[in-house]
Amino acid sequence: MNFNEEYQKKLTSPEQIASHIQPGWTCASDIALAVPYAICDAIGARVKNNGLSDVTLHTMLDTRPLSFFSEEYKGKLTGVSWFSGGGMRNAINGGWADLMPSYYRDMPSIFTDYVDLDAYIAVVSPMDKHGYFSTGCDGSVSAALLNKAKHIYLQVNRNMPRALTAPAIHISGVTALCEVDEELVVLPPTKLDDISLTIGNIIAEEIPNGATLQLGIGAIPDAVGMALKSKRNLGIHTEMFTDSMVELIECGAVDNSLKPIHRLKTVAAFALGSKRMYDYIDDNPAVEMLRVEYVNDPATIALHPNFMSINAALEVDFFGQVCAESIGTRHVSGTGGQVDYVRGAITSKGGKSFIAFPSTAKNDTVSKIVPILTPGAIVTTGKNDVDHIVTEYGIAKLRGRTLSQRVKALISIAHPKFRDELTFAAKKQNIMI
Ligand code: COA
Repeated sequence: MNFNEEYQKKLTSPEQIASHIQPGWTCASDIALAVPYAICDAIGARVKNNGLSDVTLHTMLDTRPLSFFSEEYKGKLTGVSWFSGGGMRNAINGGWADLMPSYYRDMPSIFTDYVDLDAYIAVVSPMDKHGYFSTGCDGSVSAALLNKAKHIYLQVNRNMPRALTAPAIHISGVTALCEVDEELVVLPPTKLDDISLTIGNIIAEEIPNGATLQLGIGAIPDAVGMALKSKRNLGIHTEMFTDSMVELIECGAVDNSLKPIHRLKTVAAFALGSKRMYDYIDDNPAVEMLRVEYVNDPATIALHPNFMSINAALEVDFFGQVCAESIGTRHVSGTGGQVDYVRGAITSKGGKSFIAFPSTAKNDTVSKIVPILTPGAIVTTGKNDVDHIVTEYGIAKLRGRTLSQRVKALISIAHPKFRDELTFAAKKQNIMI
């Protein structure tokens, strides 16, 4: 049978694919654009009609809410989030979905060692003349999932760009596939307010020409990107490829010319952003989407001199413990790659890690620099790894500083209206010498 005949033989509908799934099965998809919503919705519909139960679905960074992660499906279809978007965030806080603690770099090995995977489900780009599908914009964890899964179900989407280095799946290994040419999810453009722009400019001053960058999720990493347009010979080595990076490439600030590895290439584990960005990635030899266990390995990151990592946070305490995952016990996000990049950046020669955020939340009623984290808050980056903390009031260098020095530096970049009470708390704790 030639590849096209095999393709036609395996071509079916999302509903038929859902009918393959058996009670007790564990299914998983890779991150962001890889989540096959038509197959997921069909699985959900089968569960709703009492045709299926006891199914577990692992997702990473859902980009739109999955209707079945709701109370109605509790106990029948259990979502497990490895890095929540908005839908999974609500499901976890509602008690209908579970959470897998993990650094992003470790996800492939955790899947390999601990998850008995029945089905890999994913959006892929169309089959090539050799019979291969590409996982599109995802290097990420697909290779590990594909090695582990007993069955492979694909949702082929003509709109999925094809990164040349993304894992390839041969038609011979596919159990069944469907065609759904839906528009890819795009992120709305980030609103850059005055505070984000101020923070972006503060960090940009710390970044020399020739540095290699990782920018995390959120308005502030985007603002940093925008503030770097006048730099030259920058490189990109990041987990998430973002729109601000396309901007930096197209304006000539990024050329990847000084990178010691993957010279002249932009390296990432996955992409999520605009249609313009997806067009940029498609068939572009200058973009390498690679496995996250390699991309996010601090040892790989540290090979780049002057590595600059920029991420966001929800709260930071006097020790410099960074919470980027919860507000108290309320779940917001997975760990993602924050720690991978903090560790990589601080071991890179000349490298720096910046954790940046506005000094306050909730209309200036809450200071994000606090004496102790809110009870239940998750420590994402620990006190022994943290490097620079940045707000619109400046930079606090914490690495290599004593507790007392940290407290003073942090209070100096807190919002002025909270500085007295923070100072009072520090003195009461006897940590301001
Ligand atoms: N107390 C109470 N509420 C707070 C708060 C605090 N200390 N800090 C933030 N909030 C609220 C904000 O008001 C906002 O609420 P809203 O959604 O109702 O507007 C919400 O929490 C999100 O805060 P925001 O400042 O908009 O954060 P962000 O969108 O820039 O994302 C993280 C912040 C930390 C969740 C995000 O960076 C993330 O996912 N981190 C994961 C780890 C990581 O960094 N991975 C590597 C990057 S890929």
